[in-house]
Amino acid sequence: MAARSQRRQGPPMMPVLHPRASACAKIILFGEHAVVHGQPALAAALPDALRLEAERLDDPRAPLTLDIPAWSLSLSLVPELEHPVARACADVLAHCDGPLQGWAIRGDASIPAGAGLGSSAALTVALAKLALGPDAAVEEIVEASMVGEQVFHGTPSGIDSQVAARGGVLRFVRGAAPVQVALPRPVTLLVVPSGHARSTAAEVAKVHLALERWPTLARPMIEVLGRTTELGERALLEGDVARLGQLADIAHGVLAGLGVSSPILDELCGVARAAGAAGAKLTGAGGGGCMLAWPAGDPTALVAAFDARGLSPLVVEVGR
Ligand code: MEV
Repeated sequence: MAARSQRRQGPPMMPVLHPRASACAKIILFGEHAVVHGQPALAAALPDALRLEAERLDDPRAPLTLDIPAWSLSLSLVPELEHPVARACADVLAHCDGPLQGWAIRGDASIPAGAGLGSSAALTVALAKLALGPDAAVEEIVEASMVGEQVFHGTPSGIDSQVAARGGVLRFVRGAAPVQVALPRPVTLLVVPSGHARSTAAEVAKVHLALERWPTLARPMIEVLGRTTELGERALLEGDVARLGQLADIAHGVLAGLGVSSPILDELCGVARAAGAAGAKLTGAGGGGCMLAWPAGDPTALVAAFDARGLSPLVVEVGR
């Protein structure tokens, strides 16, 4: 915030964008949904998942444009445009005192949008970095990202923005500073996009409803998810893939009980287990989106099982 108020004190200047910025995507290893209700979650970054480049337009009053071909996204920030992405981007740029006119932003994305891998947080973090520049404090970037994330998701916990801005492996409790978890060696996991779109806000609302309807059941389920985070962090530090897999299976069962899995996610977890994974769970908000599996060893057979179904699994090393 110090940087922003200093900018405001100087003579009025045309707001500018920095030429390029990037942000991470995220994989929630343990604790999704529970993190909304105060439990810890553990997430890993996929570095440089979104790269943005900004160029001045010839006409300084032309609306700012945003094009990300990999997400089939192409829009102009005209004030009357009722598009959530446009509104989120405009709010982030306004929060950063950035321009809403006279610039073209183009993006290159290596993750799908709306698949539970934090595409909206990657977008809002990269935009905030374009506007705030390379010297901005990470807290300032996260705060700006959250302005956009609230447009996309209502009242997100903030874990997606934190990972998108900070990278690495993070333990996160809502309202507290995140803690980087240093792994002794990288751990391989498999992420499989189901190809089914979903709404984070709708999945989060399902858990709120479960807590309202069945508080004596749903509250302990949320606590079990928090406990899988704690035990999962220990297993991750010890490189104990068998335990990571068992904890993933438990977490998936509890998340399904809270109503945020889906037939396709249950099926993908079954495929992973049948192909030799140590365990599998949904990752992110659920309802569609992605599944995460811990390979028991060489992931080749696991990858082949999903390739054979026409899916595109990503083999990811976390903690590198
Ligand atoms: C979404 O990536 C993670 C959720 O826990 C929601 C949130 O933390 O805001 C489902």
